[in-house]
Amino acid sequence: MRIHRINTKTTEWNQGEVDLTLLDPLIKKYRDKKGNMIPLLQGTQELFGYLPRKAFEKISSETGLELSAMFGVATFYAQFRLNPVGKHIIKVCHGTACHVQNAKEITEALEEGLKVKDGETTEDRLFTLESVACLGCCSLAPVMMVSEQTYGKLTGNEAVKIVKTIRIAENN
Ligand code: FES
Repeated sequence: MRIHRINTKTTEWNQGEVDLTLLDPLIKKYRDKKGNMIPLLQGTQELFGYLPRKAFEKISSETGLELSAMFGVATFYAQFRLNPVGKHIIKVCHGTACHVQNAKEITEALEEGLKVKDGETTEDRLFTLESVACLGCCSLAPVMMVSEQTYGKLTGNEAVKIVKTIRIAENN
């Protein structure tokens, strides 16, 4: 479960060119179905990796769903993203065990090392930094995951080193 929500006040939600014709089959499938909002949002996110504003507008105009209601659902459920994410999602655990082992230091070091705030994506779209609840490996606290790889018993410096190594590998 993500505990940090993407900042919906960033202007990025209004931007981004997407091919809206990709939505046509999805809208056709769910247009007249009861309870269609969540499947429409899930399908949209599957197509684009996030929920672009323009997709919201098209769905709203073609199905009659209220934009404000869709936005309310999208911001309520942690599964939905309003902004594009990086290639690698860095999840820093802030569950109880990691919290007492100074998870805060990991997040702060990564914020500084990557020049992003918690919940944001780096300019090169390589990393998105997120605070999450327990990742299920508390004996390794403090823990972070980068994509599917878990790293435990970390310090802030080690976390930054790991991420920098991944960036170097990606740029080669
Ligand atoms: S509290 Fe961090 S892995 Fe469980």
